Amino acid sequence: ALVSMRQLLDHAAEHGYGIPAFNVNNLEQVQAIMEAAAETDSPVIMQASAGARKYAGEGFLKYLIQAAVESYPHIPVVMHQDHGQSPAICQGAINLGFSSVMMDGSLKEDGKTIADYEYNVDVTRKVVDMAHKVGVTVEGELGCLGSLETMQGDKEDGHGADGKLTMDQLLTDPEQAADFVRKTQLDALAIAIGTSHGAYKFTRKPTGDILSISRIKEIHKRLPNTHLVMHGSSSVPQELLAEIREFGGDMKETYGVPVEEIQEAIKYGVRKINIDTDIRLAMTGAVRRFFAENPSKFDPREYLKPARAAAKGICVKRYTEFGTAGNA
Ligand code: G3H
Ligand code: 13P
Ligand code: NA
Ligand code: ZN
Repeated sequence: ALVSMRQLLDHAAEHGYGIPAFNVNNLEQVQAIMEAAAETDSPVIMQASAGARKYAGEGFLKYLIQAAVESYPHIPVVMHQDHGQSPAICQGAINLGFSSVMMDGSLKEDGKTIADYEYNVDVTRKVVDMAHKVGVTVEGELGCLGSLETMQGDKEDGHGADGKLTMDQLLTDPEQAADFVRKTQLDALAIAIGTSHGAYKFTRKPTGDILSISRIKEIHKRLPNTHLVMHGSSSVPQELLAEIREFGGDMKETYGVPVEEIQEAIKYGVRKINIDTDIRLAMTGAVRRFFAENPSKFDPREYLKPARAAAKGICVKRYTEFGTAGNA
């Protein structure tokens, strides 16, 4: 059944686990997530970005997720809008039937200018007012995703702050977070701790100076009852990079967020962990391998089947590692 995100996050907090939120853009990704959830008995958060809506079209996304809900009636499913850039966009998603929306007021509507704090409070509060009236959950964001190695904003997927950032902008302030939650009354808070979207997060396996799990602990201490959200939380498995390279891909050396760091964060209030890149890498590795091994094949079903299986494999792993399994 389609459920609100608040309901799932409250249960996760009560029982001390985290829930991966997977980005979806097409049929095979939706099926992969549902097969993994069914196999592990996990609740599901599927999220659609602005890019996903542009790629698939809102109607297709809505009914793909609706098909998932109907095909797996015993699994709770959240249909979440990822990174909404204005109250109008969030209202549109609510009208379409999303059960959860993110108002990302850390940036202005252009998606690249850092917003001032009052703007963020104002737009997030507006979305909370309209969403809560109809039982829809709201995620907000305070702080800017970006790299503590380069002090650059998150640019890889085209939305993210321009120019050099300061430490204060790249790490969410616990006191300001407390004020933000009090003023907006949101359900879940996305924080900045040195992660960024995409495959190129860290040039080395991250240590505490460039991935601040300690900042999560400080925020959790100040806000023990607030559900925290980690964006940019793909782990970028080295074996997937190796597979992509082996079969003709060109990807630079790079590191993601280690699963054991996410597991530590789950002990300190992190309930939603956003993952898109790992599914992209898994599907790409599988498709590259398929074509390398089967150069004469041309039926999309034949190459999308291993891609879907690889995506499912990542989802099963994360449901198990984050403690989501068994909680549907
Ligand atoms: O928000 C970031 C997600 O990875 C979605 O990326 O905007 O390319 O769909 P996208
Ligand atoms: P990744 O690029 O690390 O998968 O992050 C996805 C995300 O945060 C979507 O909002
Ligand atoms: Na990046
Ligand atoms: Zn994100």
